[in-house]
Amino acid sequence: MILSPQLMTYQQRIEPVLDRVLPTSHTIPSRLHEAMRYAVLNGGKRMRPMLVYATGQALGQDLEYLDHAAAAIELIHVYSLIHDDLPAMDNDDLRRGKPTCHRAYDEATAILAADALQALAFELLTYAQPTISAAQQLFMLRLLAQAAGSQGMVGGQAIDLAAVGKVLTEGELETMHRYKTGALIRASVGLGAQAAGCSETQRDALYHYAACIGLAFQVQDDILDIESDTVTLGKTQGADLMANKPTYPSIMGMAAAKQKLILLHNQALEALADFDERADSLREIAKFTVKRAH
Ligand code: IPE
Ligand code: IPE
Ligand code: MG
Ligand code: MG
Ligand code: MG
Repeated sequence: MILSPQLMTYQQRIEPVLDRVLPTSHTIPSRLHEAMRYAVLNGGKRMRPMLVYATGQALGQDLEYLDHAAAAIELIHVYSLIHDDLPAMDNDDLRRGKPTCHRAYDEATAILAADALQALAFELLTYAQPTISAAQQLFMLRLLAQAAGSQGMVGGQAIDLAAVGKVLTEGELETMHRYKTGALIRASVGLGAQAAGCSETQRDALYHYAACIGLAFQVQDDILDIESDTVTLGKTQGADLMANKPTYPSIMGMAAAKQKLILLHNQALEALADFDERADSLREIAKFTVKRAH
């Protein structure tokens, strides 16, 4: 699926921001900084930064004040991918069409690069922004910490590893997906909303939207693991099956997994019913989430 022009604008906008916030590869320790840049500056879809920008714009915030939040969530995401690919976790060799970080460098460097990306993400949120109060920034820091931590993404990864070879109920699978993938997607929307300022009603609607696309995103990831191919995906096709991971298609069947996507897409759009055309990018991201080919 080709991205809409507005989503492409967001995608293009975040690249130089990421380049700027990462230390140069000449900065000591240079191998560590090279590895950080290697893992971040490549063909990522930048879906989470897109969500930060789209949410901020739906609420009338200027893009320039969203740059650091957009970069922060992408850095946390990339750190999660580096760790996800390690031998102790999914043991993958390919990511974004290139050797995984621990393959291109070594395991210790990959672990440290991911650690440093996480620290940098939090640092970014502390820099003063003219239109965002210190109280709002504190709230954003907490939001990101909670989404990344043991009751968010890291918790989800722990559930994922414990679930290998097990048969989960649909409810258990949904919980795992909501933690491991949904939490950072929810935080992307939350950061955008907090940076822009919004009413409680708007925030609740946006979080409902985020919950729907967060789950949909991982359901589609599970489907693509079966139906796509390694070149298109930029990561090894069939990895879930090989590792005996419970996924939506493996538990519900492919047809039911695809039905679930349609339902979640509709629910995401319904959640935005009270937003005007400034939320169209959020609507486009919902469509992208369920129609993407990689
Ligand atoms: C992959 O995320 C891992 C999941 C949470 C499913 P993405 O599909 O967003 O990966 P990139 O950032 O585009 O490489
Ligand atoms: C990854 O889930 C979730 C996180 C990295 C937090 P997967 O293990 O399904 O992601 P891929 O398929 O390797 O990208
Ligand atoms: Mg995994
Ligand atoms: Mg994986
Ligand atoms: Mg996957």
